[in-house]
Amino acid sequence: MKVLVVDSGGRGHAIAWQFQNDPGVKEVICAPGNAGIALEIRCENARTDEEILELAKKEKVDLVFIGPESPLTRGIVNLLLEEKIPVVGPVKRASILEGSKAYTKLLCREIGVPVAEFEVFEDPQKAKDYIAYVKYPVVVKADGLAQGKGSIVCSDEKEAYHAIDRLMVEKIFDEAGQKVVIEKRLFGIEISFFIFTDGESIAPMPVAQDYKRAYDNDEGLNTGGMGAYSPHRLEGEKLNRLVCEKVAMPLIRGFAEKEGVQYKGILYCGLMLVEDTPYLLEANVRLGDPEAEVILPRLKTPLSDISLQIINGVLSDKKVEWSQDYYCDVVAAVGRTRQIKDGKSKGWYHGYPGRYGKGYPISGIENVENPACKIFFAGVNNSPEKGLITDGGRVLHVVGKGKTLQEARDIAYRGIEKIHFEGIRYRKDIGKE
Ligand SMILES: Nc1ncnc2c1ncn2[C@@H]1O[C@H](COP(=O)(O)OP(=O)(O)O)[C@@H](O)[C@H]1O
Ligand SMILES: [Mg+2]
Repeated sequence: MKVLVVDSGGRGHAIAWQFQNDPGVKEVICAPGNAGIALEIRCENARTDEEILELAKKEKVDLVFIGPESPLTRGIVNLLLEEKIPVVGPVKRASILEGSKAYTKLLCREIGVPVAEFEVFEDPQKAKDYIAYVKYPVVVKADGLAQGKGSIVCSDEKEAYHAIDRLMVEKIFDEAGQKVVIEKRLFGIEISFFIFTDGESIAPMPVAQDYKRAYDNDEGLNTGGMGAYSPHRLEGEKLNRLVCEKVAMPLIRGFAEKEGVQYKGILYCGLMLVEDTPYLLEANVRLGDPEAEVILPRLKTPLSDISLQIINGVLSDKKVEWSQDYYCDVVAAVGRTRQIKDGKSKGWYHGYPGRYGKGYPISGIENVENPACKIFFAGVNNSPEKGLITDGGRVLHVVGKGKTLQEARDIAYRGIEKIHFEGIRYRKDIGKE
């Protein structure tokens, strides 16, 4: 089988690598991929949905696997299916579960999936009146896609008003903030729960702990993710049953009943466990990044088999097996660097998730020789003079594998210490319990 993975970051590398080691797969192509992925997997520079479709046709691929949310919400799956190309991912209509937080919250309310008390607003003044009326702390969320930055957790009314102004008046996320969801702030244990689904059945994935804040001890700004590990202490049959019964199954079934469209692919439930109730904070229609980097390596069942089961509607959780090995992912990001313009220093960039410099040569990759240490590449590019260079805020993921979390974490940190680029910065507390 020939597989095309659509993605350009660390998650895409992890997906493509999984297929690369899949006995049922002869060839893997990643589009557009990046210069780091290209060290071991063929990357093709197809970026638009039309270019991806052309590539899939030209290469006669047997399967396409979509990594990120944007092509899904644009309807790339519909485009590929029209040409009879098998693809893993929800169709455009079903991708609304991530594309509109208001839609998903209203659906949950209708079908009885636990969600925090909420209301939806299109008028900033009415939104503020509601905030004043409810009195409890709220979270203000842009309805549409905002690269995971559209939810503002507020401690008091003043912060919430400010959030309304930023999303609805200043429109910092453009049209994504046209509508907002205002929901009660919950306090509990937050987990990300991923499932495979063929639209009828569900196969849960194991759980990963991710680290969203920029600095150690969960300080600093929110980021796309600074690291992750799996297995998680809460994962297991009990949690699977709870989340599948209360959230995932009703959501998949409720959506199909309401819309007459099946949800197929991967569903990511962002949950807050409050006592024994799993509240759905949000739904995403794809794998998380960096969660994919520590969950997928635990997959013992070939991903090509699962993909075909999803497409053919014959998925069963009995057929999906996971290892109990630990994986720990430490993300190397670009921290503080000098801002250079026309050869002169102009001060400093603070670094990811704020502004950061680009184009720094990456060295030491070849010194990471431990087979239990794997590097997944994210923001990297190739320069004819300098070789591999940084090209984003999150540059690479160093993933250690071990029999215990401690071992996996030691291996990841020993690996990342060998890598260098200007401004390299990573959290020192990933997997530290
Ligand atoms: N109702 C809530 N109560 C407490 N924290 C929340 C709530 N909703 C969201 N959050 C926090 O904000 C983060 C981002 O919100 P989320 O709904 O996942 O949107 P997005 O990932 O698109 O920004 C969550 O990971 C969680 O930590
Ligand atoms: Mg989220």
